Amino acid sequence: MLETESKSSLQIKDLERRNEQAMMGGGAARLAKQKQGGRLTARERLDVLLDPGSFVEMDRFVTHRCTNFKMQDNLAPGDGVVTGYGRVNGKLVYVASQDFTVIGGSMSRTQANKICKVMDLAMKNGAPMVSMNDSGGARIQEGIESLGGYADIFTRNTAASGVVPQITAIMGPCAGGAVYSPSITDFVFMVKNTSYMFVTGPEVIKAVTHEDVTKEELGGASTHSQTSGVAHFATENDKHCLLMIRELLSFLPANNLDDAPVLPPQDRPDRIVEALNNLIPDNPKKPYDMISVITECVDEGYFLEVHKNFAQNVIVGFARFNGRPVGIVANQPNFLAGCLNIEASRKAARFIRFCDAFNIPVVSFVDVPGFLPGKEQEWNGIITHGAKLLYAYAEATVPKITVITRKAYGGAYIVMGSKLLRSDVNLAFPSAEIAVMGAEGAVNIICREEINKAKDPAAEKARLIAEYEMKFSNPYVSAELGYTDEVIEPAMTRKRIIDSLEMLKNKRESIPAKKHGNIPL
Ligand code: HXC
Repeated sequence: MLETESKSSLQIKDLERRNEQAMMGGGAARLAKQKQGGRLTARERLDVLLDPGSFVEMDRFVTHRCTNFKMQDNLAPGDGVVTGYGRVNGKLVYVASQDFTVIGGSMSRTQANKICKVMDLAMKNGAPMVSMNDSGGARIQEGIESLGGYADIFTRNTAASGVVPQITAIMGPCAGGAVYSPSITDFVFMVKNTSYMFVTGPEVIKAVTHEDVTKEELGGASTHSQTSGVAHFATENDKHCLLMIRELLSFLPANNLDDAPVLPPQDRPDRIVEALNNLIPDNPKKPYDMISVITECVDEGYFLEVHKNFAQNVIVGFARFNGRPVGIVANQPNFLAGCLNIEASRKAARFIRFCDAFNIPVVSFVDVPGFLPGKEQEWNGIITHGAKLLYAYAEATVPKITVITRKAYGGAYIVMGSKLLRSDVNLAFPSAEIAVMGAEGAVNIICREEINKAKDPAAEKARLIAEYEMKFSNPYVSAELGYTDEVIEPAMTRKRIIDSLEMLKNKRESIPAKKHGNIPL
């Protein structure tokens, strides 16, 4: 007589069968189609993002409850999103990875509930939330139920802002509701050629405004990482995107009460950077690459640039000094002469506010001739947008260290982490020119009569410019007034920044209690 299988063995087999079914998402054919398009599946993405073997899934068997349009016949375990938690570089993170093979990854009420569950855990346990979005937006069959689901996610994104780092990877076509949540999060990654973000797609645009536009042009990775600034990183493929997220997480604390992770330093803190003594051109009109200044100073020359292709006149990103993460903000003389404009102000302001929210010191490298003049800038509100940057620097209570390499003129000088905005340490190279404006502009305004009356106006103007330069285009007036703490030999920059960070390690500064400020949005 055959031995019958025990009940527990049958139960385990049943569980295995259910698990296998869940692994298949929307079925073999759809999974194959996803891969043909060059995209990884929702589960493969988690394998790349998380440390091996660390993923723990939640709600694997959740299904939707919609019965409109015969949806009861279209059920898949997990309902189009894989959620749970795992580790990145050994640190806890919560994850949600949408599965396009299940009803286009569209947002249902139950999918939203799953995402909200892990977001709530991320908040309660103080760990980053990483979302991988690949979704056709609101599940059309569910109507307002789906919109309600989105609203619940937006509410949690907003509550979590400044409490735990939130990162979104856009890994497929994201339309409508699928784009707002990413924009509330701190960093948006996109994958070139396979991901899109738009509020309304090309067809709707054609119908409403008669404009012809491709998906790529409207909301591809290049558009959003260069033109709109919606995306912070444009990556080559899914794997590159997920590895970049791991890299970014290595700089971030788990939450707003934690310090950023300090790595064992691999670079000498007292390293003298000889190259910096010859990096700034003698001619103040000649550009140079501020990225070189940054990479010369930071640990092992490693700088993770954020928003690399957007508003390139300002540079932002993460680096380490003696193992300690910092946020770097710098003007780029190689692009628009390093002027501040609307995009640059928005870019740097949001970055500084992120650093301040998560206890990451801000190190600024300054070479700024001023705000970009022009009708286009004024009409589009440079006053309001420039004020964002002013506000962000003034509000930040993390350690703030500023190094002026060359020009620091007028309002832009004040804005860029000057002592006047409660910055902690201001250093200047001997080549620094800290003044209201450049010598020629100043002489043209204040010495017009003198020049016109002179026998040789050109010679007189040259003499007055030289006199102004002697008097004001240097760091010493500022140093005499205490606005500059130290004029340093450029080669000493790394050492002095590390000294300053060490000195400011326990900095405590608070702003008056309030519900929240009213940043000029
Ligand atoms: C239900 C959807 C869906 C959706 C896709 N699908 N989007 N089902 N609701 N929103 C389904 C398709 O019917 C299809 O099912 C499967 O997913 C794959 O979709 P395809 O169209 O075959 O894929 P592809 O050709 O790659 O095109 C992808 C796409 C397209 C560009 C995303 O599907 C699309 O345009 N979807 C609709 C986008 C949209 O308008 N969403 C609503 C936005 S409004 P089968 O069974 O055939 O495989 C919104 C409001 C929220 O989100 C506002 C909150 C503030």
